[in-house]
Amino acid sequence: MPRLDRSCAALRPDRSWRTRGIGFTACFLWVAALPLLACATDTLTITTQGNGKGAAPCMACHGADGGGMATAGNPRLAGLNATYLQKQLDDFASGARTSPMMQATARALSEDERQALAIYYSKQPIAPALAKPAAPMPAADSVGAVLATRGRWDQQVPACVQCHGPGGVGVGEHFPPLAGQSATYIEAQLRAWRLGTRHNDPLQLMQHLSSVLSEQDIRAVAAWFAAQPLTAKEARP
Ligand code: HEC
Ligand code: HEC
Repeated sequence: MPRLDRSCAALRPDRSWRTRGIGFTACFLWVAALPLLACATDTLTITTQGNGKGAAPCMACHGADGGGMATAGNPRLAGLNATYLQKQLDDFASGARTSPMMQATARALSEDERQALAIYYSKQPIAPALAKPAAPMPAADSVGAVLATRGRWDQQVPACVQCHGPGGVGVGEHFPPLAGQSATYIEAQLRAWRLGTRHNDPLQLMQHLSSVLSEQDIRAVAAWFAAQPLTAKEARP
């Protein structure tokens, strides 16, 4: 490791083999810890204070635990797939997904920062408060439950759970969880696709669905997902 040797030589006064040994060990630990420290500090600092270049502190809107803020319609990030989270940050930055709250922040983050934040939030544990939703469970034959679990084939709407997993727990990097998100947030996204302010779904599956759902359907299906218990374990495809 020539780099390590050079930096150690610079730091180490050349005395006896003993002090040299201690110097080397201390230096090795210092150098080895640097990237870890730098990485952990940057990500945490951005979530609590922003990056000093225009990105706002994430926790102000997504909560200290990444659980989101239901009433404000700010989504939970904790426990979501890292690739999905990074794609959303990239999409805000490119404008494929528009939001007055997120776009300036996403643009002010470097690619490395976006990736580090996505990994950070994907590893955040899900707060116990989110695991048991306060919203009452709609009846199994309600409009929302039927749309979510059976779909509406005369309008070519497949059951939401076919892509989003049983109970909306999410599947892999492409299909985000809906359980653990607030009804306010789910409704807002369905409306955003309908309006075209979110057009980042590669196969335009969500655009089609949203365009045929009525306002009443949107509210009913959002209420159903918001009432689903959230299992920490992601469903496997
Ligand atoms: C001023 C409030 C605010 C701040 C600060 C903020 N966010 Fe957001 N974030 C939002 C809102 C609101 C949305 C939903 C936007 C929409 O689509 O309408 C969102 C959406 C997201 C999403 C998409 C989630 C999903 O399920 O698709 C990601 C990822 C995200 N934010 C990451 C971050 C990160 C990382 C930071 C810090 C660097 C941050 N946000 C700072 C308000 C904020
Ligand atoms: C054929 C697959 C498919 C079906 C069926 C489907 N979705 Fe989606 N949905 C997706 C994909 C893919 C995304 C993520 C798009 C992206 O990359 O941003 C998504 C994203 C979403 C989001 C945004 C989540 C977030 O964190 O921002 C919501 C809300 C949503 N879907 C609701 C629904 C509802 C409600 C139904 C049923 C009426 C449904 N979806 C059916 C594929 C599907």
